Amino acid sequence: IQCQSTSTEEPKTKRNLLDNASNLLTNFLSGGRLGSMPTAEGAVSDLFGRPLFFSLYDWFLEHGSVYKLAFGPKAFVVVSDPIVARHILRENAFSYDKGVLADILEPIMGKGLIPADIGTWKQRRKVIAPGFHSSFLEAMVKIFTACSERTVLKFENLIERENHEEKAIELDLEAEFSSLALDIIGLGVFNYDFGSVTKESPVIKAVYGTLFEAEHRSTFYIPYWNLPFASWVVPRQRKFHRDLKVINDCLDGLIRNAKESREEADVEKLQQRDYSTLKDASLLRFLVDMRGADVDDRQLRDDLMTMLIAGHETTAAVLTWSIFLLAQNPSKMRKAQAEVDSVLGEERITLESVRELEYIRLIVVESLRLYPQPPLLIRRSLQEDKLPGGYMGSEDGYAIPAGTDIFLSVYNLHRSPYFWDRPNEFEPERFLVPKASEGIKGWSGFDPNRSPGAMYPNEVIADFAFLPFGGGPRKCVGDQFALLESTVALAMVLKKFDVELRGSAEDVELVTGATIHTKTGLWCKVKRRST
Ligand code: HEM
Repeated sequence: IQCQSTSTEEPKTKRNLLDNASNLLTNFLSGGRLGSMPTAEGAVSDLFGRPLFFSLYDWFLEHGSVYKLAFGPKAFVVVSDPIVARHILRENAFSYDKGVLADILEPIMGKGLIPADIGTWKQRRKVIAPGFHSSFLEAMVKIFTACSERTVLKFENLIERENHEEKAIELDLEAEFSSLALDIIGLGVFNYDFGSVTKESPVIKAVYGTLFEAEHRSTFYIPYWNLPFASWVVPRQRKFHRDLKVINDCLDGLIRNAKESREEADVEKLQQRDYSTLKDASLLRFLVDMRGADVDDRQLRDDLMTMLIAGHETTAAVLTWSIFLLAQNPSKMRKAQAEVDSVLGEERITLESVRELEYIRLIVVESLRLYPQPPLLIRRSLQEDKLPGGYMGSEDGYAIPAGTDIFLSVYNLHRSPYFWDRPNEFEPERFLVPKASEGIKGWSGFDPNRSPGAMYPNEVIADFAFLPFGGGPRKCVGDQFALLESTVALAMVLKKFDVELRGSAEDVELVTGATIHTKTGLWCKVKRRST
């Protein structure tokens, strides 16, 4: 059971086993030393019966905003507190790494930003983050529009083929948004057209196979694939490695091509941030042209793979839950459609028009509040630390030893009755209304004006009670890309179609790994708008 088929893997696998054993031991010991913390006892069935984040929410209401979750000898600290979240993510960020998450993702993403050790991360973040500048995002809006047009055309053709009077089609919109998001991330990050809205291909199958495995691993918080008894999963592991190879070969080819086709004229345009006549506006072009052709191919491949995985299902999920919520709120859907009609008319979407699509933008962020992707952020303390006193439970805070595994529950924060009025209701308008801290010690309340110039509400305006993209130095690098993409795609679908759920909202079962998604698809009735 190895992650890559090179001869260096044997010692690495052994090292992982030793690491896991020592983590388990440290965890066991630290679990014992978190003595004064309220404790929730988890049963193994909590890992399988329903998404774990539901149980974490119930325990949060019962035990407070910082508690210890014990599964036998294994203990996690569960944080649902903005002050503690701010400490872990921003104020003392470098005392933590990604812990279990890095164990899960390293075989897929290598030294990409998400699982990378701090040294590699510092170097690569400096190189990658500037690539997401405003001219790049403006060029991306054109890609979002072109790809969304393909989806709209596909729906129109399917509707056209219907013979019955109602002319509505039944579609799994989760699957459709997944294809759309895959096409967008391929073109935006490495100028590769998966064309998955209209066709199947071995590369697409390999991407879904790899995502499936990443998802499966994320539902287990112990890296079973490194353990000796894991031989029963050999066929799955073999398929996983085959899929990984297909994607890696594809990415290697794209990197080679980008390096060979480097042209000085394009480099100049990129330097001047002139994307107007650039044929290839992708991030890969920026990374190769602006950072020199000598950048290490293996690292570049890890970076691209990371962004492919991080930027695909997450954005697809935002679109899925936005439609799910709107379909249950027809008056809000009509309000959104009226905004799209008045802002866009017959024009194509631009970055400027996105600025005017305020309601659509708020729908996107409200969907991220109710269905955060991922619902949990994972950290492991690298050294002893003192968590600040929260607004519930201990005034003094808790000392935590090195090696403590932490689940920062974004889901709990986003649905906390302490920070949000009617937390479980879909109210995009809530982001326009300030909220005082109401005596919650250390939290500065919610103020939409605290982040001037930001197009979308972010963690700053809610002082870490809203963390759709994390916060601090490891905050999502693609947040604006994803928000713009979701806004453009949602506006274009709503412009043309009315959407209803095929069954009731209760029929839509949730499952979760890295993202929250449906168990059997988001089946909807889609028809052309009558106006
Ligand atoms: C990190 C969410 C889209 C690339 C993160 C984190 C979150 C997040 C919460 C922080 C993880 C942590 O602190 O442990 C989302 C959501 C998205 C989205 C909800 C869509 C709605 C994207 C896109 C890209 C991307 C489109 C790339 C094009 C990354 C990368 C990191 C990251 C590279 C790691 C950053 C670092 O450690 O420096 N994302 N993301 N994400 N995301 Fe996103």
